[in-house]
Amino acid sequence: MSSSRKGRRSKRFLRLGSRLLEDAYTQDGTLLLRAGARITTLTELARLSQPDVRFGKNLAAEIPIDMENEAVLDAEAMDPDPEVTEFLKGVERAREVKHESISNVESMFAAVEAGEVVDLELARRTVSRLLEELLGDPRALVSLTQLKNADAYTYTHSVHVCVLAIHLALHTDFRDQVEEIGLGALLHDIGKIRVPLHILNKQGPLTPDEMKQMKLHPVFGVEQLKKSGETRPTVLSCVLHHHEKVSGRGYPDGKRGRHISPFAMMTSIADIYDALTTDRPYRAAMDPKEAILMMAKQMAEDLHEGLLQSFVSLVGYYPVGSEVQLSNGFRARVLRHYASKPNEPRVVLTADAEGRPIPGLPVIEMSKECGVSIVGFVRGEGGFSVARDLAGGVRKAA
Ligand SMILES: [Fe+2]
Repeated sequence: MSSSRKGRRSKRFLRLGSRLLEDAYTQDGTLLLRAGARITTLTELARLSQPDVRFGKNLAAEIPIDMENEAVLDAEAMDPDPEVTEFLKGVERAREVKHESISNVESMFAAVEAGEVVDLELARRTVSRLLEELLGDPRALVSLTQLKNADAYTYTHSVHVCVLAIHLALHTDFRDQVEEIGLGALLHDIGKIRVPLHILNKQGPLTPDEMKQMKLHPVFGVEQLKKSGETRPTVLSCVLHHHEKVSGRGYPDGKRGRHISPFAMMTSIADIYDALTTDRPYRAAMDPKEAILMMAKQMAEDLHEGLLQSFVSLVGYYPVGSEVQLSNGFRARVLRHYASKPNEPRVVLTADAEGRPIPGLPVIEMSKECGVSIVGFVRGEGGFSVARDLAGGVRKAA
């Protein structure tokens, strides 16, 4: 072995992919990693970084690293995982589609407020564009439903509910009705225009009279849609019955069980999830895992069992795009989740325990980590941003 290949480094230089030139041992002589092996998991990285670890026959404290391999890692860092690059491109495109959709909803609501009818053609175009995006790259657009914008709650919420309801419809038996479900979900709260603002924005509990007015918004919404020329029952049921509950405790009709259309139920599930995971004037947002568990447990008797299960499997505990904190102090973004392993998604590492960006944005499977787990979500300043820190990581790597 030539000396130029070999370098001894302090443990803080170790990273995923580093290759040791000598065997690594614990203090009691247990072999941790053989010479020549690369560090492939965060668990190995964390263990090898412990102060008791020694290397080679002489049991030296400094780590013998293959410097040629380090140079390869530096080169790889210029060229992040294609999955991450692809995801980032998708997010950028989806971000434009989402912003355009929000501004379309805003103009539809403004027109109705001004006494005009709903621009159904614009609504149809908006749904088609979102649907096209979801059929192409569902991860990007769905991940953006985690990005909340407190300034324009109603419009952003309408687009999120539309995206999530379409996403659910595409993965259940309702693909044929997906455009109608999307349209109903996009306009599900259009009737709120006739509810006074002081009721909509009230921070405390509503009085019985205020509640009565609030509960009329699905009825107002359907009236508005009919007046605008929309008569399809699928669309109208999403609007009229998105607050009905299987237990019969919903409104406006107190419908029960199978008397509530699956289209309304899909809108309802998407509506509840997005509302729970968004900051409101009267309460802070739940994190996605808390929200999904609450829906799966406390709300199960109010929601259609099969559709709820499909939604839980689709969105998961750690939705694609969410930023998570790992038990070793690292931060990561979720790239993919698995219905069979809800606590062990595939993630891309974004920052180490000191908060430094990780060049090359390594992708790891949490299921291969036996010593590192996800301990919570990261709530960034100004809310969630999928692309910002990942893009920063790519730039730094390049
Ligand atoms: Fe509503």
